[in-house]
Amino acid sequence: MSEEKIIQMDMGKLDSEQHSENAILCLGIESSCDETSAAIVDSDRNVLAHIIYSQIPEHQKYGGVVPELAARAHILAIDDVVRQTLDKANKTIDDIDVVAATAGPGLIGGVLVGWMAATGIAQATGKPLVAVNHLEGHALVPRLCATLADGTNKNTAIEFPYLLMLASGGHCQILLVRGVGQYEMIGQTLDDSAGEAYDKVAKMLGLGYPGGPVVDARAKSGNPKAFDFPRPLCDKPGCDFSFSGIKTAARTFISRAEQPFSDEYINDFCASFQAAVVDCIVNRLKNALSDSRVRGHKPKTLVVAGGVAKNSAIRAAMEKLASEYNMQFAAPPMNLCTDNGAMIAWAGLENYKVGKVVKEPVAPRPRWPLTEL
Ligand code: KG4
Ligand code: ZN
Repeated sequence: MSEEKIIQMDMGKLDSEQHSENAILCLGIESSCDETSAAIVDSDRNVLAHIIYSQIPEHQKYGGVVPELAARAHILAIDDVVRQTLDKANKTIDDIDVVAATAGPGLIGGVLVGWMAATGIAQATGKPLVAVNHLEGHALVPRLCATLADGTNKNTAIEFPYLLMLASGGHCQILLVRGVGQYEMIGQTLDDSAGEAYDKVAKMLGLGYPGGPVVDARAKSGNPKAFDFPRPLCDKPGCDFSFSGIKTAARTFISRAEQPFSDEYINDFCASFQAAVVDCIVNRLKNALSDSRVRGHKPKTLVVAGGVAKNSAIRAAMEKLASEYNMQFAAPPMNLCTDNGAMIAWAGLENYKVGKVVKEPVAPRPRWPLTEL
């Protein structure tokens, strides 16, 4: 694989800077979608090295991820990604204490590649192996490093329990995170995920893949009141989401429009669509915060994670909501929101510390809800 395809993630200086002598080192591998990534993270919350090889350019011409192509690309990339991660950290495999990899949920061809690589390393070296649930990677990474309301990145632990808005390309859930492996589902989407809605709307507007970042950017220059998008379920109690009505409205608006779209049309469309998504998230989170299952645990922090957590408007709205409820707000730094190896290494470490290591062969799972951990 060519050098220029490898992206090194510089985490900058973290609080602890140096790791103590008895820090545990975990090598984490992620390959469940269109990023082949590895990282070495220690129990003092240092990211020693982090490599992400993004396949996005390979899938862009198809308007979305092609699972078969993704699996092949992971096979071609995985060895280099792991080797370069070790080199960058100035470590050999002997220095690693724990090996972790995503074992699901995700595109199974890709998951198999990373999982078998990790299994091979663990078997050859006798190191403990952790099967990480990809969603748990997203859910726990704010405990490795979080951007707080004042904009600073802190690698101090966000304490359990916390209320989590998990929004990615494949999932949209509100969870009460009570501990490692302890998730209570408070609400979830009945149809599309938030990321899917962004990606589909971007496709309708001809904005390419992935849609989230470009819709987010376009929305900044648009009028959020230009289009009257529905706010599905917001007049109903409960914490579930539905985005299919927003998607249908988008299709109807577009069918009435003159093409090619003007920049102003696209910006207004993106701003109005995003305003509807933000309103739904805030409405559902308000219900979650007054839900007795949540109130009983008194979470001190409102957290957003997953690829959609990169969204500026969603972050701002959740930060405001948190302050209204006298809660702390936390989100992963931008480069730890979308899929990455550091979140898998960190979730691997957290699981290792509570003794959740692989004792018998694990079959990767395309579907693996957090509530089944
Ligand atoms: O977590 P992730 O990297 O992959 C999954 O596990 O699914 O999330 C990818 C999703 C995509 O749907 C992408 O469009 C969305 O995150 N995304 C965003 C933004 N950046 C990425 N959505 C809204 N606003 C963004 N700035
Ligand atoms: Zn993800």
